[in-house]
Amino acid sequence: MTTRDETPLPSDRVWTTLTERAMGAMERAYAPYSGFRVGAALLAADGSVTEGCNVENAAYPAGICAERAAVAAAVTRGVRSFRALVIATEAETPAPPCGMCRQVLMEFAPELSVVSVTRDGAEARWSMAELLPHAFTPTWLERR
Ligand code: THU
Repeated sequence: MTTRDETPLPSDRVWTTLTERAMGAMERAYAPYSGFRVGAALLAADGSVTEGCNVENAAYPAGICAERAAVAAAVTRGVRSFRALVIATEAETPAPPCGMCRQVLMEFAPELSVVSVTRDGAEARWSMAELLPHAFTPTWLERR
């Protein structure tokens, strides 16, 4: 039996695909207000990849981040188990996911490997435990 802890990290080839998919999603971002385009590519346990991009709105708080857009698209397809996420931005250095996205990612993927990339090829990598220590997870709702 393979437990989640034994799941191997994606191969270099898969990371390359995820990076390309995240970059492609970034190109399609709708970010006329911030000018900060973000793309995300989410690798599921079944090997499928779901993309997301940030979609802003004239009513600013109605906008959604790329990472949460990717999670919502995957869940809509019936996919809820994730292994890896690549985030692409046009920032000079790799940008981490925002706090709200960290919370949403933790709900579905506490073991997720998160990589952020730049156009120049710089990369940063984090675990969910690094991004969101002391997380409020679904089990807390049972501890009353
Ligand atoms: N943004 C994301 O898409 N993901 C993040 O994790 C950080 C922020 C978007 C939201 C907004 O459209 C723009 O970047 C500037 O904050």
